[in-house]
Amino acid sequence: MNNFELYNPTKLVFGKDTVSKLGSLVEPFGKKILLVYGGGSIKKSGLYDRVLSELAAIGATVHELPGVEPNPRLSTVHKGVDIVRAEGIEFILAVGGGSVIDAAKAVAAGAKYAGDPWDFTIGKARIEDALPLGTVLTLAATGSEMNGNAVISNWETKQKRGLGSKLVYPRFSILDPQLTYSVPRDQTVNGIVDIMSHVFEQYFTLTDGVPLQSRFAESVLLTVIENGEKALANGEDYEARANLLLAGTYALNGTLPNGVVTDWATHGIEHEVSAIYDIAHGAGLAIIFPNWMKHVYDAKPERFAQFAERVWGIDPSGKSADELALAGIQATRDYFTRIGAPATLGELGIGAEQLDRMADEAVQFGPIGSFKKLGKADVKRILEMSL
Ligand code: NZQ
Ligand code: ZN
Repeated sequence: MNNFELYNPTKLVFGKDTVSKLGSLVEPFGKKILLVYGGGSIKKSGLYDRVLSELAAIGATVHELPGVEPNPRLSTVHKGVDIVRAEGIEFILAVGGGSVIDAAKAVAAGAKYAGDPWDFTIGKARIEDALPLGTVLTLAATGSEMNGNAVISNWETKQKRGLGSKLVYPRFSILDPQLTYSVPRDQTVNGIVDIMSHVFEQYFTLTDGVPLQSRFAESVLLTVIENGEKALANGEDYEARANLLLAGTYALNGTLPNGVVTDWATHGIEHEVSAIYDIAHGAGLAIIFPNWMKHVYDAKPERFAQFAERVWGIDPSGKSADELALAGIQATRDYFTRIGAPATLGELGIGAEQLDRMADEAVQFGPIGSFKKLGKADVKRILEMSL
């Protein structure tokens, strides 16, 4: 096990009807609020009205940044920064999925920076200050509700890049599983795949001597696999939605990578695909991850064999490590297909035209990943396998 530091300041407020705590959670940070939300799902569900009435009860003045896109755009972040400056905003409240939360984080940091917030994503500037923010999460997927990361798309340059800082951890996140009842089937599927992918990125490691981290990861996977199917069968199954929501948070809140060298190559590759084609992040991962697995498993087949046995319950008797590993990869592909996730880029209308560009961009700062270091030819091969 490697040395590590664990820091997570986000207060998690989890459970039924916890939106009723919103006023008291926001109040210490001020009365001038920027409410950030997406394309309207919170209006349809009635959550928007509940949030406004909670904020009215503490006498808050609310300004709004509506219309945050899935794969949130830099142009929307700019709009948010302008509102913060013009209105003297003291606190940012994100109500929605990962895209809304990520946009809110970029606004929080961008408002305290004289240059373009895009600079944070390309290493041109570090986040030195940020407005405080909080979230009401409506979709189990990214883990953004309890981490310091955000992913923003620059539509003009067709680039999708991340920023991160301990200064943009949400001060609090409200997670009421009931708020995820209205998530449509395809977004529930995307969320399941994203959560599992976050675990894969941290589980497939060459670091030895990490049984606790491995079992944490396996338990998150088993929980998602079981409860994902239950939530798809009945969108209003409270326990299934609750377990999925909590699993999503634990998959990316800093618990799983402790003392472990993590990978993240597949996320890097997927971001290049969604930067150009604007596809849902989870859909891209469902296509690419099994192909990444096939490409890299021989770096340590025993790790994939453990995955096959412990997560998919595959009987190891009479099988070599390679055979077990491949059976586990196939089980992963089959699960994604069973829940309705895509298996090929072709299903999303994506051909081979931009593979070179995507592979170039993915490795522009050098080889990616750690389980097996990937250069341009590897990335291109994985994308070709995904066509
Ligand atoms: O925009 P609205 O109308 O709210 O609708 C959204 C959106 O269309 C809808 N939705 C959300 N909650 C709902 C709902 N519809 C009905 N009922 C509800 N309760 O779902 C759609 C997708 O929302 P989005 O926020 O885009 O999804 P997700 O949470 O999967 O976020 C994806 C973004 O997060 C980034 C991805 O790259 C992508 O840009 N990621 C962020 C990470 C992080 N900050 O740590 C890590 C991830 O790996 C990921 O890269
Ligand atoms: Zn992800």
